[in-house]
Order: sequence, then C-alpha cells, then structure tokens
Amino acid sequence: MTEEREYVLGTHDDELRRLGFQHQVWAAPTAALFERARFAPGQHLLDLGCGPGYATADLAQLVGVNGAVLAVDVSQRFLASLEAMVAARELHNVRWQQNDAASLDLPDGQLDGAFARWVLCFTPNPASVIAEVARVLKPGARFALLDYANYEAFTMAPASDAIARVIHATGKSVRMSGGDFGVGQSVPALMHGAGFDVEYLEPIVRIARPGSALWNWPASFFRNYLPTLVTLGLITDDERHEFESVWKDRSDNPAAYLITPTMVGVVGIKR
Ligand SMILES: C[S@@+](CC[C@H](N)C(=O)[O-])C[C@H]1O[C@@H](n2cnc3c(N)ncnc32)[C@H](O)[C@@H]1O
Repeated sequence: MTEEREYVLGTHDDELRRLGFQHQVWAAPTAALFERARFAPGQHLLDLGCGPGYATADLAQLVGVNGAVLAVDVSQRFLASLEAMVAARELHNVRWQQNDAASLDLPDGQLDGAFARWVLCFTPNPASVIAEVARVLKPGARFALLDYANYEAFTMAPASDAIARVIHATGKSVRMSGGDFGVGQSVPALMHGAGFDVEYLEPIVRIARPGSALWNWPASFFRNYLPTLVTLGLITDDERHEFESVWKDRSDNPAAYLITPTMVGVVGIKR
C-alpha cells in the first residue's frame, strides 16, 4: 500500500465521519452549484480532492450509467473508504486515483467538467492546481469550485474573545501547513489566468441557531481540531477549556446565533 498522506485536519475515523456530516449540512448549496455548472447525465467529471467520496457519490448518480466520475485525493485511507462506499452502493461508474491535485495522471482535454470543494484551501500552490484542471478539461467544460474566502468572518453572537482566538489560531494552523482559508478571494483571478472565463460567482454564508444541524457543523470541527491546536502550540489548554465553556454557554442560549465563515462558489468555463 502507498504511504498515507494526511492533510492538516487528518484522515482518522473521526475526520471521516465529520466530512460525512459536513457533506450533509452543505448538500443544498453544493447541489445548486452542480446545476450552475450544468453537470448532466452522460458527462465524465473529475472530483478533485474527493476525500471519502461523499460528493463523488452524488455526482455519480447525477451523471448516471452513461457517465463517469474520476475521484482524486492524496489520502489512501480516504480512497479506501470511497472504494468501500461505492461498492456498497453499487456505483459502477466511479474510478479513483491517488494523486496530488497539481499533477494528475490524466491526458489533456478529455473531461466534461470538474468539481473541487474545500480542497484548494489546503494546497500550497492553488495556481498550479487550477492550471492542471484546465489542462484535463475539454474547451467549453466547466469547473465548479467551493472554498473559503474569509474564515475569520466567522461570527458568534453574543461575541466571545475565546472563540475569536480559536478561529484565528485555526486560520494560522492552515497557513502553517501551506494552505489558506482565504483562497477564495484569489480564485477568479487564478481561473482567469489558467484559461477559464468566470461565468458565475456567489457568496455562501449562512446563519445557525443552537440546536440546528448547522450549529453542530463548527462544533464537530472543533471537537476534532482543538487538540491539534494545543499540540501545535497555537492555543493553551486553558484557552481550549475556555472555548469549550463559552461554546456550551452559547449552545444553551436560545438567543445566540453564529454566522458561518464566508465561502465562495465559482464556476469557470474553459476557453
Ligand atoms: C476538507 S476535505 C474535503 C473533501 C471533499 N472535497 C468534500 O468536500 O467532502 C479536503 C480534502 O482534500 C484532500 N487534499 C488536500 N491536499 C490535497 C492535494 N494536494 N491533492 C489532492 N487532494 C488533497 C485531503 O486529503 C482531503 O480529502
């Protein structure tokens, strides 16, 4: 087996489950982006940085038996999970490849479309990833991308310094690993430079109240990630406990709300 390549959030079982829950919570904006990109039956699509394949499965159902989805990720563990899932769901039109997003083992100009969600923010050279997607698409094919544009826009009400500190530390940890939770700001320019016309651009921001599934989305992230922030020395144990106590307080407060970090949905057409 190839050596496991973990991204900064890890590829352990809890992260695998978190990605499944995250997929569920963000399924509607994702499906809307698929429509904007005109993904359709019979197409051959790329799911770049597919993780355990939750969006891959949706795309496979969308393109149907006459289409196909190629799922690419650096993580062997996530791809093993994808393999088991597509077998259990009898999705015979999914293929997968362990590879870096910036160097795909694919010929030029063959694919009808590509999708990348929360991947570019973890890659050290987003320009080369977008150029690689441009290389493998046919002229006229669409690339749909969803990613963070401003992570630190995350808002908790009532406001809390303990929460703001952890949000800041999270952004810093991603930068330390070579990523950028503000990458969405550069995507239109990078797409343009790589040979795409940017056809569609939207902000994706939502509000959540305690008790909702969306409220539990950041909660599930921090449950997994706070220990890493402590290990990296970006927060102290006391700051972790303070965060947990404020989070519990807000979760019990029916007047509290949170606003999710600003993301962008982008669709480019290969010239
Ligand atoms: C937050 S997960 C998103 C997974 C999936 N796109 C989704 O929306 O559920 C980020 C994924 O990007 C993958 N990844 C990170 N850097 C990568 C790279 N350079 N090339 C390919 N995949 C990468 C990780 O292994 C992980 O599966």
